[in-house]
Amino acid sequence: MKWIEEMSFTGGRVLITGAAGGIGRKLAAGFAELDAELVLVDRAGSDWAPVREEMRGANGRPVCFMECDLEDQPSRQCLIDQLVAAGQPIQVLVNNAAFVGTSGLTGWAVPFDQQSVDTFRRALEVNLIAVFHLCQGLAPSLARSPSGGAIVNIGSIYGALGPDWSLYDGTSMSNPAAYGASKGGVIQLTRWLATTMAPAVRVNAVSPGGISRGQPESFVRRYEQRTPLGRMGTEEDIVGAVLYLASRWARYTTGQHLLVDGGWSAW
Ligand SMILES: NC(=O)c1ccc[n+]([C@@H]2O[C@H](COP(=O)([O-])OP(=O)(O)OC[C@H]3O[C@@H](n4cnc5c(N)ncnc54)[C@H](O)[C@@H]3O)[C@@H](O)[C@H]2O)c1
Repeated sequence: MKWIEEMSFTGGRVLITGAAGGIGRKLAAGFAELDAELVLVDRAGSDWAPVREEMRGANGRPVCFMECDLEDQPSRQCLIDQLVAAGQPIQVLVNNAAFVGTSGLTGWAVPFDQQSVDTFRRALEVNLIAVFHLCQGLAPSLARSPSGGAIVNIGSIYGALGPDWSLYDGTSMSNPAAYGASKGGVIQLTRWLATTMAPAVRVNAVSPGGISRGQPESFVRRYEQRTPLGRMGTEEDIVGAVLYLASRWARYTTGQHLLVDGGWSAW
């Protein structure tokens, strides 16, 4: 066996949601470098220029950019129908799109008593229900993949642990309840899907720690102090874990949840 070939996605179609986002575009570049044919999904009006830039010089395989509002069930069904009609199996599905802490929603990243039920519901729709829907709709396609299908769901440290509010002291940042609840759901959904879709499809989750994105200096300092590896994450830090779990290097791994957080959760 050639290990380098086991890490290649040659001949496989890889679908990434939220691919125009910070982590999504680094994932796209990583999969492209390993020879994948990409289907990149994000909201209408997304700026794809940075994604194209990231992938410049990668592999020259076809890239399909698709627009879908993952909050909207008919839009999701339309995406699934189009992918199924295309006929070519999906080898890898990366459920990466989400409302995140910085999403500009009302009743979201605000103190507990101001978080709204409507926004909580919307976050569940995008962060959790859309993951279920895509996995269910694309299950037959993933199962047909000649080398076995793989799903990687992107969770979060906040799907596994509660927020340490001392990190947020003196900042306007917050941590929405719906974010943690939806990501906790994604991590458990991963285990449910893993035993349900085996042996044809492997299902795993990767949970990033906080990514450095210009947060207030006091937050960064405190965050770094409680992180064994001494820094916040970068988007690139997440890519290797996703590529590993999506590839045949992880062919005997399913139902697992890998925290990629510099040791933040190891205490
Ligand atoms: N950035 C972090 O610190 C961090 C930490 C832990 C986990 N994560 C997870 O990593 C993943 C990527 O996050 P990111 O930091 O790159 O965020 P990002 O906001 O840069 O990217 C998220 C992408 O999802 C897309 N998206 C959101 N709602 C959508 C919808 N309704 N339909 C279609 N697309 C939609 C956005 O347009 C965006 O391109 C998310 O699942 C997030 O929860 C991020």
